[in-house]
Amino acid sequence: MEKKKMNGVLHCRWLSLTIVSYCFVALFLIQPDNERIKDARALSSSASLPVKAVNVGGWLVVEGWMTPWLFDNITNKDMLDGTQLKLRSVKQNMYVCAEGGGDNILVANRTGAAWWETFKLWRVNETTFYLRVAFGQFVRISNKSSELVANATNPGKSEEFVFIRSSNNRVRIRAPNGLFVQARSADAVTADYGEEGTNWGDDDPSVFEMDLNWRVEIGEYQVTNGYGPNATSVLRNHWNTFITEDDFRTMAEYNLTAVRIPVGWWTTRDPEPPKPFVNGSLQIVDNAFNWAEKYNLRVILDLHATNGSTNGWDLSGTRDGTIDWGKTDENINQSVGAIDFLASRYTQRSCLLAIELLNEALAPDISIDSLKKYYQAGYDTVRKYSSEVYVIMSSRLRADQRELLQYIGSFNKSVIDVHYYNSLDGRFSGLSVQQNLGFINNERSRDLSSVTVANGPLVLVGEWSGEFWHSGGEASKEEYQRFAQAELNVFGRATFGWAYWSWKHEINHWSLKWMIANGYISLNKTS
Ligand SMILES: *[C@@H]1O[C@H](CO)[C@@H](O)[C@H](O)[C@H]1NC(C)=O
Ligand SMILES: *[C@@H]1O[C@H](CO)[C@@H](O)[C@H](O)[C@H]1NC(C)=O
Ligand SMILES: *[C@@H]1O[C@H](CO)[C@@H](O)[C@H](O)[C@H]1NC(C)=O
Ligand SMILES: *[C@@H]1O[C@H](CO)[C@@H](O)[C@H](O)[C@H]1NC(C)=O
Ligand SMILES: *[C@@H]1O[C@H](CO)[C@@H](O)[C@H](O)[C@H]1NC(C)=O
Ligand SMILES: *[C@@H]1O[C@H](CO)[C@@H](O)[C@H](O)[C@H]1NC(C)=O
Ligand SMILES: *[C@@H]1O[C@H](CO)[C@@H](O)[C@H](O)[C@H]1NC(C)=O
Ligand SMILES: *[C@@H]1O[C@H](CO)[C@@H](O)[C@H](O)[C@H]1NC(C)=O
Ligand SMILES: *[C@@H]1O[C@H](CO)[C@@H](O)[C@H](O)[C@H]1NC(C)=O
Ligand SMILES: *[C@@H]1O[C@H](CO)[C@@H](O)[C@H](O)[C@H]1NC(C)=O
Ligand SMILES: *[C@@H]1O[C@H](CO)[C@@H](O)[C@H](O)[C@H]1NC(C)=O
Repeated sequence: MEKKKMNGVLHCRWLSLTIVSYCFVALFLIQPDNERIKDARALSSSASLPVKAVNVGGWLVVEGWMTPWLFDNITNKDMLDGTQLKLRSVKQNMYVCAEGGGDNILVANRTGAAWWETFKLWRVNETTFYLRVAFGQFVRISNKSSELVANATNPGKSEEFVFIRSSNNRVRIRAPNGLFVQARSADAVTADYGEEGTNWGDDDPSVFEMDLNWRVEIGEYQVTNGYGPNATSVLRNHWNTFITEDDFRTMAEYNLTAVRIPVGWWTTRDPEPPKPFVNGSLQIVDNAFNWAEKYNLRVILDLHATNGSTNGWDLSGTRDGTIDWGKTDENINQSVGAIDFLASRYTQRSCLLAIELLNEALAPDISIDSLKKYYQAGYDTVRKYSSEVYVIMSSRLRADQRELLQYIGSFNKSVIDVHYYNSLDGRFSGLSVQQNLGFINNERSRDLSSVTVANGPLVLVGEWSGEFWHSGGEASKEEYQRFAQAELNVFGRATFGWAYWSWKHEINHWSLKWMIANGYISLNKTS
């Protein structure tokens, strides 16, 4: 850090010297205060560090658990993209299985259901679905017989299955040939049952019992594809009501200094984002910049969801949880394109403090090599437009946070992002409140120190929350206050700053707005 600050000063001084006339040089020579010759923008941006920021999560990148009501009016909302389906043949009393996990026939001879017996739904509309098997292929009818096989790679008309549900979780499935799927025997699942009527009884081989594993990972893809043609109005209404100018005013009033804005790659494709994403979100980002400027908040613009998904979670905009970012150069390039779009549009805005290249890359799925390739290209792209804006690079989740420290530190005005939650991980539910506090004061404090090194990048605790998992009953208000204060004390040492997850949230303790309004957390202007 020190090294880089020095470089910046020297660089600016050199520039100033070449620009200003000699009489001003003389003035500088008798002026001992080096600050005078610092670039004004560099000064104002360093003055804003470390930031006290909040994420506006669940706004432009939907997360179902933050805003569950958004899914309320979807027809068949238990059958969204990525929903895991298990089918039990009531006649055979056996589960349907994609033999071998894929590239093979379907059978109905399993007494229990695990991975190969789980199908992921790809929703065409509220009644029509593609069925994706364990190894990623889709179910279709074999060309030679009426057997179902799982060997299609790009689903289309011949992979469309129509689900006709009964009231008691039973279903009949009409195959693309117009006939019903049946478990003719334990080792033959075929699409050749012509009988239109059924009593939904155990004797009907075309009747299956559905086990729909309601998944937590419901996000932007699920809500937009779930509403289909109605998605535009639902999403636009959400964008215009969930976060408004008044929220930015309140953030400033609560002594926050910055806002981290997660955006999805589809926003960079406005006005024609690929289906099912809907257009109009770019205007909302523009609004956010206007409000940030008006209320003197700095902006961290975060490419939160990349095409291909870096973690498989709802927050990545995934369709079915598959992590395939970085598997080919194609989506790395697409992400660089998204950064180019954001940088070209927003680097001239005075409130822009930083661009974050990517959020939550999961190890080992996302390789260090793909990350480095992308970070280099993303950094160069931002620098095409600005030498001032900070470039934030995420450490990999579930890996040693120091593995990329030196690499990230090799760039100018670079920042490493680390996320520190005491929840969403079973190990915390076994800890008492006191042990959770100890974890912050000891382990977390050490974690933060270990990424804070001379000549390294600045450090952003880009996500943390006042919610924590613990043993025993509900924690008291006083315990929440002590926990949050411990976090503020430790994370306050982060050299770039911190950002709470999130401003608004269905669950109160996850909402900084609620926490401050209700006296759980208070911030003052200086600390
Ligand atoms: C769902 O429908 C109800 C009743 O029409 C309406 O009040 C509500 O706003 C709708 N919710 C969404 C997310 O569209
Ligand atoms: C769903 O899609 C299928 C295939 O494109 C179409 O035949 C059917 O009419 C659609 N159903 C609804 C309810 O939109
Ligand atoms: C899928 O299986 C069918 C027959 O079972 C075969 O005709 C077809 O070539 C296979 N397709 C692929 C992509 O393997
Ligand atoms: C199998 O059938 C599909 C669609 O019905 C067709 O596109 C494909 O060419 C056929 N493949 C073979 C090997 O016959
Ligand atoms: C299920 O049926 C297939 C096809 O006949 C067979 O290869 C497989 O061994 C059977 N599995 C079990 C568990 O019975
Ligand atoms: C769209 O909304 C209308 C009116 O609320 C409703 O009748 C229709 O079923 C909805 N369509 C979808 C695909 O959700
Ligand atoms: C969204 O797309 C539609 C259809 O392409 C277009 O008419 C409309 O102007 C676009 N709206 C915005 C806000 O980009
Ligand atoms: C998203 O990335 C995938 C590859 O992972 C690619 O096939 C697809 O075309 C991309 N989508 C768009 C809209 O560019
Ligand atoms: C990705 O971008 C690099 C550099 O511009 C280029 O060499 C490469 O061909 C691109 N790859 C793809 C798959 O577009
Ligand atoms: C950092 O800035 C210095 C001084 O402007 C420059 O010489 C160097 O090439 C930059 N390094 C990177 C990685 O951009
Ligand atoms: C903001 O900080 C100032 C000065 O430290 C303090 O007086 C004020 O109460 C704080 N506002 C809130 C809402 O905490």
